[in-house]
Amino acid sequence: MRNNIGQWPTKHIDRRTFLLAAGAGIAAASVQVSRADEPSETPLRQRAEKKGLVFGTEVNAGPLFSLKQYQDAVLRDAAMIVPENEMKWRPTQPTARQSNYFNADRIAKFAKDNMLLLRGHTAVWHQNPPAWTKDIIGSDDGQTLVLDHARELINHFRGRVMEWDVVNEAIAPEDDMPDNLRNWAPYNKGGIDFIADCFHAAREADPNANLYYNDYSVYYQNQGHRRDAILSFLEKLKSKGAPIDGFGIQSHLIANAEFDENVYRRFLSEVADLGLKIRATELDVSDVRLEPDIKLRDTIVAAHTKQYLDVLFNEPAVVGLVTWGMTDRFSWLHKGWPRKDHLRQRCLPLDDNFAKKPMWYAIADAFDHAPSR
Ligand code: G3I
Repeated sequence: MRNNIGQWPTKHIDRRTFLLAAGAGIAAASVQVSRADEPSETPLRQRAEKKGLVFGTEVNAGPLFSLKQYQDAVLRDAAMIVPENEMKWRPTQPTARQSNYFNADRIAKFAKDNMLLLRGHTAVWHQNPPAWTKDIIGSDDGQTLVLDHARELINHFRGRVMEWDVVNEAIAPEDDMPDNLRNWAPYNKGGIDFIADCFHAAREADPNANLYYNDYSVYYQNQGHRRDAILSFLEKLKSKGAPIDGFGIQSHLIANAEFDENVYRRFLSEVADLGLKIRATELDVSDVRLEPDIKLRDTIVAAHTKQYLDVLFNEPAVVGLVTWGMTDRFSWLHKGWPRKDHLRQRCLPLDDNFAKKPMWYAIADAFDHAPSR
C-alpha cells in the first residue's frame, strides 16, 4: 500500500510526530518523509489549474460577506465555490408562495464579480424540504412538487451555475427498499424513473449546466455495499436515458478509517466506465477518532488527505476537488459530529485563525503530483 506523504515542509512534521502518526496506523512501513524543499505558497487554484483540474470550496454567506479574512482565503485559493446551505429548498422557499434567493443570489454575484465557477447544491434532497411541504410530499402530488421545485430553482440560476447537484443522497441500502433507494415518498412512488425525471427537468431548466448525482460513504473498506448500490443505481439511471454528466463524491473522510487504495481506484474507474465525470464535492476529514494532541491530529488528517487525493487524481475522469469549507472555524462537523472531548475538530485546510495547516500542504502536494489532464 503506497502512502507517500511527500513534500510537506519539515516544520509541519517533526520526527516524533511522524512516528506517532505511523504508530496510529496511518503511515505504513513504506512511508518516506521527503526532505525536499518547502513547497511554495502558490495558491491551490493555480496548482490545480496546471494539471487541468479545478480547486473549489464551499462558502457560507454569513462569514463570506462579513469577515474579510474569510473572503480573502476563498479568493486566494478557490477557482470554484458552492453555497453551503443558501440554495437548499428550506431557505429558498420558506413558504408555499414565497421564494427567497437573497443569499444565494449574493453568492452567485460574488462568483461572477470574481470570475469564480459556481456549483449549485442541491435541487432534490430528502433532508431539506421546508416544513410546509411535509404533507404534500407524502401525497400523490409529492413528485410534482419536488420536480417543480427543481425546475424553478435551476431556472432561477440559468446561465449562472456551471454544475448542479441535481439529486443528493438518494441511496440508502439500510432502508431495504427497491434499487437501494432511500425510503422517501417520491422515491417510493416513482423509483429510479422519478430520479431520471429530475435530471430531465434540470436539463430543461438549464441546458448548459453540468448535471451531477451527489452521494457519500463510498471510500472505506466497510462501505462496499454502498459502492455496489451506487454503481448499479448510476448504471440504471444512465440506461434510462437520464441526462447525467457526473458523480459527485462528497468525501467526508474519517482520519484513521480503513482505506484500501486498490478498492477505491477500481470503484472510480467503474464510475468512469459509465461515461461520467467525477468530482470530490465536499472534502473534509473528521478527527473524532484521534487523540487530542493537535500536531498528531494535523499530521494524520494531512496524511489521510494525501493518500485519498493521490488515488482520486490518478483517475482521468476526475475533474476537481471542492472542500466543505476552507477553515475549521465554520465547519459543520463541530455541531454535526462533535468530538467526545469537546475539542474543536481540525478538519479543513486552514485553522480557526485562517493559518495553513498540514492539510493545506497535503492538498497542494497532491495537485503537484497529479497527472495532467
Ligand atoms: O438557518 C437556521 C436558523 O434560522 C436557525 O435558527 C438555526 C437553529 O439551529 O438553524 C439554521 O439552520 C441550520 C442550517 O445548517 C443553516 O445554518 C440547520 O439547523 C443545520 O442543520 C444546517 O446544517 C447544514 C446541513 O447540511 C443540513 O442542511 C450544514 O450547515 C451543512 O454543512 C450540511 O451540508 C451537507 C450537505 O448539504 C450534503 N452533504 C452532507 C453535508 C454535511 O452534513
